[in-house]
Amino acid sequence: MRKPLVAGNWKMNGTSASNQSLLAEILASAADFSDVDVAIFPPAVYVHQVQQALTGTGLHWGTQNVSSYIDGAYTGEVSAAMISDFDCEYTLIGHSERRCLYDELDLDQLVLDQLVAEKYEMAASSGLTPIICIGESPQEHDQGQTEEVVVRLLDTLLAYQGAKALSRTVLAYEPVWAIGTGKSASPEWAQNVHQFMRERVAKHCPKTAENLRILYGGSVKGNNAASLFSKPDIDGGLIGGASLIADEFVAICRAAAKQI
Ligand code: PGA
Repeated sequence: MRKPLVAGNWKMNGTSASNQSLLAEILASAADFSDVDVAIFPPAVYVHQVQQALTGTGLHWGTQNVSSYIDGAYTGEVSAAMISDFDCEYTLIGHSERRCLYDELDLDQLVLDQLVAEKYEMAASSGLTPIICIGESPQEHDQGQTEEVVVRLLDTLLAYQGAKALSRTVLAYEPVWAIGTGKSASPEWAQNVHQFMRERVAKHCPKTAENLRILYGGSVKGNNAASLFSKPDIDGGLIGGASLIADEFVAICRAAAKQI
């Protein structure tokens, strides 16, 4: 049985004061989360604050991005070793908002997938659990290219280190058209894509596929979380906007815990 994971991606939001009260409100309900892994992804400058607030509570934390380089003259980047230094367990990799930024530099999708694979390798070699985001754009969705997009990145990852490496990885299916739009994928749509992803990994290693946690992300709220999480291949969520509202986030974590 896979333990669900709920990951709260704060994106570029918060202040020291607002973080403190949001964390306190979430922690007040932490006793309800024993059957679910809950992780918080603050902006990098607040990782230390989150570490101090969450150490010893059973909740986890991580970063929204990681550099593909070890160290050196890369202004503004944060390395996997630095992230580990703050007891982070996870890092997000390849979030679509990061990919859009890179797109502005005219990198094509294959190069982007390669970059995700390099970051993945860097994170894994520092003992972090990468949460790799995969999902189709609105245009790709309209053109029926969802499976193609998912396969392209999965195969790049598998070619890099083989299926066994995915045993220390979480995947997040995040259709770009559902992120921040209030228009979540239906549980049936998400389940089909998740099942497809699991089957693709199973072709290489059935055991890894069976244990692989695949999260859904894109407009998950307190009122749609339970129906999404009730699907057999949806193992929790990557939550953006709703992770900034304590009641919503707690409701989502409770919905995930009930699926055990
Ligand atoms: P959302 O964001 O929950 O606000 O749609 C999800 C994400 O970007 O990870």
